[in-house]
Amino acid sequence: MMPESEVVKMFESKQIPLIGPDTRLLVLSGAGISAESGIRTFRDSGGFWEEYRVEDVATPEAFERDPEVVWRFYNERRRQARDVRPNPAHMALARLEERLPKGNFTVVTQNVDSLHDLAGSKEVLHMHGRIDPLRCVECSEISENMEHLDGIPYCGCGGMLRPHIVWFGEMPMYLDEINNLLYGCDIFLAVGTSGLVYPAAGFLQTAAAAGAKTVGVNLDAPANVSYFDYFFQGRAGEILPGLVDYWLEGLQSD
Ligand code: OAD
Repeated sequence: MMPESEVVKMFESKQIPLIGPDTRLLVLSGAGISAESGIRTFRDSGGFWEEYRVEDVATPEAFERDPEVVWRFYNERRRQARDVRPNPAHMALARLEERLPKGNFTVVTQNVDSLHDLAGSKEVLHMHGRIDPLRCVECSEISENMEHLDGIPYCGCGGMLRPHIVWFGEMPMYLDEINNLLYGCDIFLAVGTSGLVYPAAGFLQTAAAAGAKTVGVNLDAPANVSYFDYFFQGRAGEILPGLVDYWLEGLQSD
């Protein structure tokens, strides 16, 4: 692991743009930011999609066909979500948000865990939903539920409950809001995402075309790496604290 002062030098040598109080930052995070908290990613070796088929557990058709199999997958993920804590990458982003005027910093996350929220981030858009709430397939009521579930849960109305998350083939949440943020941001930072799942994978190109400076942090080069103005290869928990320090030092000397 690199000492933090070295990390800051790394950003200086690449001349990452400094931020001021008026800079609008938009962060897109993916499974890689939660990897160091102990949550498996989807496509790395050992990732979820090595063990399960998307078609069996993450589509509305799979739920219609066999809700028991789908719930077994999500009950296990809900159980694991109780044991994890935010890591230095989540904490660094929360630290940055705290220092910027409200409205100038948003995290759009593809993750269904609540680690950004637990770290203290306030403006978080969970575009693929969250693992805690449940939604009734009959009456559509949404309820927060942190309990351990076994088997298929049911609503008071008798309808089957499903996880309030976005499956393949369904429309991600907050797309209008995200679109406005993409066109309005000065810096777009993507962390821990393979750049393979749309529409999130296209946000980088949209932000770049709209004039934002684009920064990427990822363990491996993502599919869309060529659209980044600056790309740092490594672990989010090791790189983001230094990047945030670099930005905060610049803010102080403003
Ligand atoms: P992926 O599993 O596709 O990609 C995770 C990325 O994180 C990979 O590019 C890794 O190299 C990188 N990575 C792993 N560990 C890291 C670390 N410690 N620091 C930084 N980067 C690291 O996950 P996503 O891109 O989030 O959707 O996947 C997008 C969507 O596909 C998910 O939201 C989910 C999935 O299927 C749905 O379920 C709808």
